[in-house]
Amino acid sequence: MIDLIHHVGIVVHSADDALVFFRDIMGLTVSEDRVIEEQGVRGVLLAIGENEIELLQPTRDDTGVARYLETKGEILHHICFRTNDIRAELARLQSQGVDLIDESPRDGLAGEIAFIHPKAMHGVLIELAQPPSGSHTGTEKGFDHLAAMVNDIDTAAEDWSQVLGLELSAKIDASDHGILIGQIICGQTVMELVQPATNDSPLAERIGSVGEHPASMIAIEVPDIEEEISRYRSAGMTVSDSSPGPIPGTLRASLTAEETYGLGIQLITYV
Ligand code: CO
Repeated sequence: MIDLIHHVGIVVHSADDALVFFRDIMGLTVSEDRVIEEQGVRGVLLAIGENEIELLQPTRDDTGVARYLETKGEILHHICFRTNDIRAELARLQSQGVDLIDESPRDGLAGEIAFIHPKAMHGVLIELAQPPSGSHTGTEKGFDHLAAMVNDIDTAAEDWSQVLGLELSAKIDASDHGILIGQIICGQTVMELVQPATNDSPLAERIGSVGEHPASMIAIEVPDIEEEISRYRSAGMTVSDSSPGPIPGTLRASLTAEETYGLGIQLITYV
């Protein structure tokens, strides 16, 4: 059973450089930092409430992660979901004919891991992880929401339900922002399926050119958005002014992904 978003993985040129932002400015704690030789990556996990952010820095040029970084730049690479029985999940997925990258689990930073092919999940590369028993996880809220850009919420939601057992719980018409949002709850995080409201919107054009894809973004709930904005600004970061978000009753502000190693950070507050 899948109960939590374990982490989002982003590819970076230099984990040390990225740590200056994620550890020193955001204030997150490193929970793991090691080189996985056979995968040719240095992986760093930073705890954020019940979730984590994984930095992946290629240590060789001949790996999938290195090619991904080469072609796409610093950007979100995968979303990892926690399971208590990865073998049972993989057996179930195989019997359903779901496209898997790994048919059996292997060792990763988060424990025993396996990847599901992005074509099974509307362009989102999904990792499953079964952490070692007794491994510590935070209980506080981490990510408020993540997002995946899709052509059609209902079609995508069927696959999220079939593959991960996570159900659509609500739909929000945010056509004043040019989008419709389907909400899937996982732990304390909402996984948003975001559909263009019209066929000629910027999002529709973007999906038309690059396909369905995850947003390279995490949203974090903050108690006082103005205070957070000025905290990041005094650390030298560019942050937008706060403005009403697509979810009714929210204010949001964004740090620009160019300054945050490809992972856009959205600050959100519920008013
Ligand atoms: Co990962």
